[in-house]
Amino acid sequence: MKIIQDIHELRATVRAWRQAGERIAFVPTMGNLHQGHFSLIDVAHQQADRVIASIFVNPMQFGPTEDLDNYPRTLQQDCDGLIAHQADAVFTPTPQLMYPRGLDVQSYVEVPKLGDHHCGSSRAGHFRGVSTIVTKLFNLVQPDVACFGQKDYQQLAIIRQMVEDLSMPIEIIGVPTSRAEDGLALSSRNGYLSAEQRAVAPALYQSLQWLKAQLQTGTGDLRALEQQTKQRLVDAGFRPDYLNISHRQTLEPASSTAEPLVVLAAAYLGSTRLIDNIEI
Ligand code: PAF
Repeated sequence: MKIIQDIHELRATVRAWRQAGERIAFVPTMGNLHQGHFSLIDVAHQQADRVIASIFVNPMQFGPTEDLDNYPRTLQQDCDGLIAHQADAVFTPTPQLMYPRGLDVQSYVEVPKLGDHHCGSSRAGHFRGVSTIVTKLFNLVQPDVACFGQKDYQQLAIIRQMVEDLSMPIEIIGVPTSRAEDGLALSSRNGYLSAEQRAVAPALYQSLQWLKAQLQTGTGDLRALEQQTKQRLVDAGFRPDYLNISHRQTLEPASSTAEPLVVLAAAYLGSTRLIDNIEI
């Protein structure tokens, strides 16, 4: 597997693949790879002849009080995992390479509306950072297809919208969330949990499943159900950030169980913020 740190080498590698008529799949990541990321790599292989990942902890998508400095950086272990999953290359740029003039003067991409709620309200500027870095990486790699996890449901919706709005010739594939046996969605942030918090953490997905069962009966006031589910999270030991029953396409608050629904949630265990979602 090629480990690529500079833009010229990246462009030359991708150009050679393209000249050979090969289809290219791309999996952008922030590293600290786990089975969830590797399932993206496996799906990418089904879509293309070449698979390239990126590992870049993107400063633009972290707020001033968030965990940028402490975000786990495990490059050697990540490369071993990518080799085991037969990735052809990984691009590992530095912040200086991606933002040479600094973040204050960086042009950006922002998708309106879809980022207004959920993580967008509690993490100001987060999705602007995601859309901007994904655009830059797409421009560098120029893949035919790119894979993203459905765990980051709002992120996936925003990227799909961005690609459509800006006519990017890239197919976006959403890959189902990988879970531990007890249902906890795999995430790099799970590594921050203490043993006691890890024992509580599956209650997030269990609460979503409970809510799904309530919604499938087709009755009940949606806002009251949101409150009841939040209370279940509090009782389990979480501090909920949000728990919203939303329309699956617009991600706006849903008003009836007749709509296509998704429940999106974020909740803290100590200072660790976990997210999850469930389609109804
Ligand atoms: O989902 C992530 O890991 C990041 O938000 C992404 C898409 C790699 C952009 O930095």
